[in-house]
Amino acid sequence: MGGTFNSALSARRLARRFHSGASELVIFEDLSLEVARGELVAIVGESGSGKSSLLHLLSGLDRPTAGDVYFEVDGDENEPTASPSRSLASLGEEELARFRNREIGFVWQQHYLLPEFTAMENVMMPLLIAATPRAEARRRAQVWLDKVGLGARLDHRSGELSGGEQQRVALARALVTEPHFLMADEPTGNLDERTGVAVFDLLARLHQQHSLTSIIVTHNHQHAARCDRRLCLHQGRLQEESLHV
Ligand SMILES: Nc1ncnc2c1ncn2[C@@H]1O[C@H](COP(=O)(O)OP(=O)(O)O)[C@@H](O)[C@H]1O
Ligand SMILES: [Mg+2]
Repeated sequence: MGGTFNSALSARRLARRFHSGASELVIFEDLSLEVARGELVAIVGESGSGKSSLLHLLSGLDRPTAGDVYFEVDGDENEPTASPSRSLASLGEEELARFRNREIGFVWQQHYLLPEFTAMENVMMPLLIAATPRAEARRRAQVWLDKVGLGARLDHRSGELSGGEQQRVALARALVTEPHFLMADEPTGNLDERTGVAVFDLLARLHQQHSLTSIIVTHNHQHAARCDRRLCLHQGRLQEESLHV
């Protein structure tokens, strides 16, 4: 069972249908996807094609109607016999939440920071939730705020930061727990072009430096072109897009 060797993530035959009254909305019927370790993959497609729905399934925020998502994760040193492959369907809600917190950093189009809290407090939050001692959480949040170029803005309330700065804080918050996967849903969608490029540059640099496996939903074809692979979602199917069409 599990993904093919060298695949960090595989989605197998995903279906997602929504019921509303007597009618049924089919987002995908049979969608499969393999992402290699260390890949930076872009997902593009029209509004309403199901990109966010797909990302929610891949990250375990939503459960598919059929099919499953497998993650290859490094074996637990304390449990050498444990299978390194995780099927999301096999995890209960609590295990799934723990897996997500440990393995997946998420960035949304909206930053969802707590506006009354400082940049530092926002970035410390996932560590405090994981019961990291406060001094340690502060030290690690400082390191990540430096990495995203906000080392001098630690004590600013996030509501007082610019849109680009808020997305930098959101990236630091997503990665402060050192997950192996980064998933982002239109992370530059609310930013002007120049700020969007800077935030995408940062994301691509962190992807590289931390050997992440990343899936980025984007409307921006320039950003997509900088990814290792571009997949276009259209009528429930993913198609590889070449750069030279
Ligand atoms: N929870 C839900 N219940 C019913 N329909 C939904 C739900 N989530 C998404 N949809 C529908 O699924 C389709 C795809 O939505 P979405 O994944 O948000 O597309 P995209 O991110 O590509 O714009 C849309 O028609 C949307 O209305
Ligand atoms: Mg969307």
